[in-house]
Amino acid sequence: MANQPHLTASAEHFWMPFTANRQFKGNPRMLERAEGMYYTDTDGRQVIDGTAGLWCCNAGHGRREISEAVSRQIAQMDFAPTFQMGHPLPFELAGRLAQISPAGLNRLFFTNSGSESADTALKIALAYQRAIGQGSRTRLIGRELAYHGVGFGGISVGGMANNRKAFGALLPGVDHLPHTLDVQRNAFSRGLPEHGAERADELERLVTLHGAENIAAVIVEPMSGSAGVILPPKGYLQRLREITQKYGILLIFDEVITGFGRVGEAFAAQRWGVTPDILTCAKGLTNGAIPMGAVFVNETIHDAFMQGPESVIEFFHGYTYSGHPVACAAALATQEIYRRENLFQKAIEIESYWQDALFSLQGLPNVTDIRTVGLVAGIQFAPHADGAGKRGYEVFRQCFDDGLLARASGDTVALSPALIVEREHIDAMIERLADAIRKAA
Ligand SMILES: Cc1ncc(COP(=O)(O)O)c(C=O)c1O
Repeated sequence: MANQPHLTASAEHFWMPFTANRQFKGNPRMLERAEGMYYTDTDGRQVIDGTAGLWCCNAGHGRREISEAVSRQIAQMDFAPTFQMGHPLPFELAGRLAQISPAGLNRLFFTNSGSESADTALKIALAYQRAIGQGSRTRLIGRELAYHGVGFGGISVGGMANNRKAFGALLPGVDHLPHTLDVQRNAFSRGLPEHGAERADELERLVTLHGAENIAAVIVEPMSGSAGVILPPKGYLQRLREITQKYGILLIFDEVITGFGRVGEAFAAQRWGVTPDILTCAKGLTNGAIPMGAVFVNETIHDAFMQGPESVIEFFHGYTYSGHPVACAAALATQEIYRRENLFQKAIEIESYWQDALFSLQGLPNVTDIRTVGLVAGIQFAPHADGAGKRGYEVFRQCFDDGLLARASGDTVALSPALIVEREHIDAMIERLADAIRKAA
């Protein structure tokens, strides 16, 4: 490591997450500063941030309102417990978020990440069913190719094989719906694809197989990001809502990526007109500045817990940092930026320019599909003869060399810029991506 310019001699001590550690440390890509739509790397090069960090910095980087709120709060009160104690900020934040949430989802539980939000949502679902006398409903249903973080609950209902297969038996009583990626029928659709709503009907089959009285909840990402931008076919989410409602099964939307304007509107639930019973978020909640997540539930679910003696804890769950004052300060400042700059609306306004720009890549070597909605896009490539994932990684790496941060998931490269993106940033991103695609051919 000693002759690597930007890694210290102790580079081996950091075991990097979701990274080919040895490959990375042999040829590191190191970021040092961030402002607006740009990172600066350790060589002083400007890199356009095509991914809002990791789908989280929706208001762009270096927002002074957030850093100032954080530094004020950490000086005033660095920490306060929320177990049997309180401080004003999480109450204020919950009230603020309830104003933008999908109809009725106005009770909030705070976490520190998307993974914790997913596991919290699953636990709420199970405990709710028990609280209303439906204790036999213990089964959870996820979906193939889903990503719900890395907790044991999340990987159990998740459907990305590599995230599951090294970790034993996982949660019992979990089943999966089929995924909705159908390149053969839907390639190069603009916006939501036409074909595939019927895949929601697989839930009927699982109900027949297990009995509705044994199923607690279905969890899906309204749009899967991590597995390579997989969009819901038209009518699919509506169908899932109808079937879950018919059988008393809770519907959970994991909006860790789609929350806070990624597909336009505050949440995908609003953009696509389907209201789940439980909704998770993280990432954009604080613009990525401080770790924080949240779970929204409706009053029916919340109130089912608020029974029995008032002196008894209603839900034996929570994190030391649930409602952390510094995270709350970051979230409040972030929400104020979203509101003041009307950023969710801005995502919708620039959506068609974004789509047109993306579709200019159609016809470039090895591009087999382009999927885009809101301010997100997935460009899928034909796999390299040397194996799946190689082409995606090659395009990602080439993009970075050319000054664009993209994200590779297998042979799909994803883009999800901050909602402050302007046309000239989009043009620059597409130009660099097109170059990278050609070079990787
Ligand atoms: C839909 C979804 N759920 C959960 C997570 C996990 O979030 P975290 O990495 O904050 O635990 C992610 C992260 O990308 C996600 O996309």
